[in-house]
Formats: sequence, C-alpha cells, structure tokens
Amino acid sequence: MQVRVLEADFSSLKPHWAENKEFAQLYNAASICPAILEPYLVKVMTAAKKVLPAKFEKMHEDVRVFTLQEMQHCKQHILFNKMIRTAYPDIEPFEKAYAADYERFLKTRSLQFNVAYSEGFEAMSAIPTTCFFEDFDDYWAGSDPRAETLWKWHLAEEYEHREVMHDLYAALYGRGPIAYAYRIYGFFFATWHINKYISAIGKLLLAKDRENMNADELAASKAREKVIGKLALKHALRHLRKIISPFYDPSKRQPPRGVMEILAVSNPVVPLPGAFAA
Ligand SMILES: [Fe+2]
Ligand SMILES: [Fe+2]
Repeated sequence: MQVRVLEADFSSLKPHWAENKEFAQLYNAASICPAILEPYLVKVMTAAKKVLPAKFEKMHEDVRVFTLQEMQHCKQHILFNKMIRTAYPDIEPFEKAYAADYERFLKTRSLQFNVAYSEGFEAMSAIPTTCFFEDFDDYWAGSDPRAETLWKWHLAEEYEHREVMHDLYAALYGRGPIAYAYRIYGFFFATWHINKYISAIGKLLLAKDRENMNADELAASKAREKVIGKLALKHALRHLRKIISPFYDPSKRQPPRGVMEILAVSNPVVPLPGAFAA
C-alpha cells in the first residue's frame, strides 16, 4: 500500500458532469458519503491502532497508510462536493445530520461497534467498486474525466482497504461466533445507515432537476434512474454471499478489471491511464 496524491482540479466542474444526468446526480449523492464518513474512519482507525498490540507490526503500518489514504480521499471529495452544495444548498441539513451521527457513534458507542461499522463499510464498498470498473463504461464515455478519475482512484485504493479492516477487526476481536455475529451486525447497520443518507440526498438532487420537466422528460428520467439502480445492484448478491460467510476472507478476492493498473500509478493525474472505455 502507498499514499497516492490525486492531481485534479474540480473548480470548474458542474453537477451534471455526465451526459446521463441521473448518473451524475446519483454519484454526486454518493460522493457526500466519503467526505463525511472518511474523517470518522480515520478517528476509528487511530483509536483502534492505540489498542492494537505492538506484535502486529505490519498491521500497524497498513493502518497508518490506510488513514493517510482516507485523508486524501475525503480531501478530494470535499473539493468535488463544493459544486454540488453550491448548486443544491438544500443538501446541507442532510450532511449535518449525517456528520452528527458519526460524532455520536464516536462518543457513545464502543470501539468494537465503530470498528465493525468501518469493516462493514469497507466490505460493502466491493459492490460499487465492481460496477465503477466493469459496468459503467458507457456512462464514463460521456462523462467529464475528472469525475471518472476521482472515483476510480478512490475505489482502487478502497480495494486494498477491505483486507486491512478485516484483519484489524479479527486482531482486536477474534474470529469466534460472537465476533462474527457483531461483524455481520456492523455490516448491515453500516449499509443501512450509509444508504439512508445517500438515497435521501440522491432523491433531493433528482427532484430538483425534475421540477421543470414535462411528463415525457420525467418518464425518461425515471427510466434512466431505474437502469442505473439495477446496474448498481448487479453484483450485490455475489458480494453479499462472500461477506456474510463466517469464512469471508477479502485477501482471496479478485480485483475488478482495471484496478491493478491504477494501483500501479504513484500519483494519478486526470485522466487516469486506461481509465476510459475502449
Ligand atoms: Fe476512501
Ligand atoms: Fe477505505
């Protein structure tokens, strides 16, 4: 693992950065998540590192790089999200409520809860990662390369995180039945909690865009949204089966097409090499 600094300038990017505006808006909503979740992850990892026995030397180093990567991710998503908030200021109450939840988790919930939540988030990120690399080529072809580069750089590094988080959870809480049950609880809770906010923000963005549409435009917009929603869940069941298995081992996963090429780049610039559909 290594820290890669993305060189991108989102200052002139507009919320409709894709020809398929619903695609852009649904992933604008998703981009709110890392800007708020990843600072929380960094705090959880820092607390976990403090209680992780020194004998786990490699894990200590992986956690250190993991937190530095997350800091780069949220920094870039905060820059990216500026244009969304400027155009759609109504998302702010959702962002505040979402951030307040994480403050509350850190203050009132156990470290095991917070580590299980973080592990659940990292495990779940396998689902969008596969779609972004393998199923969205047509959408990327009609998109601003800055958005594609941001997501692919971020999700390629997330691919490395699943193993670190899972090993950390096991090092702290073991692999017995109670640790397993709590991990599964963390996974489902994190998935529900994150999707609650992403989906509320996505609905708000699309509703604003649809305010002046006529009946035909509205029907076409809803049809495009449906196709994107179906694609987003295409790999969910396959990943879910692996994640909920007591024998789940993210070190045995296969990288989606194109992930390793991005991980081979030290400091990506826009556009990423090989990031576009042929
Ligand atoms: Fe991240
Ligand atoms: Fe991560």
